[in-house]
Amino acid sequence: MKGVVVSGARPTGRQHLGNYHGALKNWVRLQVEARCFFFVADWHALTTDYAAPADIDSNTIEMVLDWLAVGLDPERCTIFRQSAVKEHAELFLLLGMLTPVPWLERNPTYKEQREQLVERDLSTYGFLGYPVLQAADVLLYKAAAVPVGIDQAPHIELTREIARRFNGFYCPIFPEPQTLLTDSPRIVGTDGRKMSKSYDNAVFLSEPAEDVDRKLSRMITDPRRARRTDPGEPGDCPAYLSFHRLYCTPEELRWQEEGCRTASIGCLECKRVMIARVQADLEPIRARRAALRPADARDVLEAGNAGARAVAQQTMAEVRDAMGCAR
Ligand code: TRP
Ligand code: SF4
Repeated sequence: MKGVVVSGARPTGRQHLGNYHGALKNWVRLQVEARCFFFVADWHALTTDYAAPADIDSNTIEMVLDWLAVGLDPERCTIFRQSAVKEHAELFLLLGMLTPVPWLERNPTYKEQREQLVERDLSTYGFLGYPVLQAADVLLYKAAAVPVGIDQAPHIELTREIARRFNGFYCPIFPEPQTLLTDSPRIVGTDGRKMSKSYDNAVFLSEPAEDVDRKLSRMITDPRRARRTDPGEPGDCPAYLSFHRLYCTPEELRWQEEGCRTASIGCLECKRVMIARVQADLEPIRARRAALRPADARDVLEAGNAGARAVAQQTMAEVRDAMGCAR
């Protein structure tokens, strides 16, 4: 038993294979080992999408349906929505009192995203405070570990620093959470760039089998194999590096490598073997997803929100006492 595990994801709607291998598979494993809280970080979505929040609710429901389809089990883990548990906002406010602004300005994602998302004005108070809200998410449940990708590691480091500062000023309420780095292979999309909904290169978990087939058969391969008779190199093939290696058996991989380098097989023939494996993996997920309705996601959230709230209220009673606030 690992103690408490907390992780969240912004509501991005339908989940793709990048989300699956990058986080969800790991969550499904963790729910049997630890007391897990998995939540939809809809307030975090507002830090960048504050001007256009229209899709947040539907994206929340679509995402939770996929969480259930991959096997997150509300009997084993608490699935909830951040904005439904107001204690997150209260702890965010209180932690804000003791978090030095330079800690936030130093945060690498703060600098990067402000430069990248130029079409949005991210010079807001809320966006600067993003990691403080994330610290509140984690500390509210006294998490021992937070499973995240490497891009989130600085935020968990900051969470530890905030916990340490809090414990030093008042009393030791918060354990310092460990980062459980998800050693996920980097999944690239059909065009060879990082798989992302916004690049239009993603394969979605709930997508019909024909569409998965079509997308993966067209996926970019080693450009050297312009003609069927040109030999290629699997190490330079995005389909191989992301998908074949992840899904195919060692025997299949040997056949693919050899066939590629000697041009004895074509790319489509090579990918067919991989596609069959991907489809076999996705089939039970698709079947579970097809049996679920939006109301099921809402019911799961309703119950999870109440479960999370009960834990959050206990922590907040301690925090209010420690900081001299009204209970
Ligand atoms: N910031 C995370 C992301 O963009 C989502 C998140 C919010 C989170 N709160 C969290 C992850 C708490 C782990 C723990 O992916
Ligand atoms: Fe990639 Fe297979 Fe084509 Fe080689 S034969 S480039 S490994 S898809």
